[in-house]
Amino acid sequence: MLISEETRKKLAELKDKYPTRQASIMPALHLVFDEFGYLGVEQLDEAADIIGVSRLDMNETASFYTLFPKQKVGKYLIQVCTNLSCALMGADNLVEYLEEKLGIKLGETTPDGIFTLWNVECLGSCGTAPMMQVNDEYYEDLTREKVDELIENWRKGEGS
Ligand code: FES
Repeated sequence: MLISEETRKKLAELKDKYPTRQASIMPALHLVFDEFGYLGVEQLDEAADIIGVSRLDMNETASFYTLFPKQKVGKYLIQVCTNLSCALMGADNLVEYLEEKLGIKLGETTPDGIFTLWNVECLGSCGTAPMMQVNDEYYEDLTREKVDELIENWRKGEGS
């Protein structure tokens, strides 16, 4: 069993909260994500068994929502939008800069497990391009200076 007793209890409670079992899939995904920071197949299977939906339904729903990581990621998941508006405002340069600064390529995690760098589709904040989402927060109108400051603050928070 990977899922903690506490999360298992919360998952079990979802059964009575929603009119159908299917309706409890999304809140279940959030509970699993909150515990692990990603949605692995084993965790999804366990959660499906607890809330009483098919493992297939659970996994299909999880894979539809691409913003839920499916593998372990760094403490700070940096998702740079590289869609049209952001691309026009220099998103590719921003990605290159982050790759250089963090010493990793897109899709990779720093060896200390602190940062993961992804590119993603439009995050709906085109007016403030270029932008990125880090965990649950948006960072907009990005410049190299802003990125330097953010990375420095996150590194300080990690004591490195
Ligand atoms: S294109 Fe980047 S937020 Fe829309």
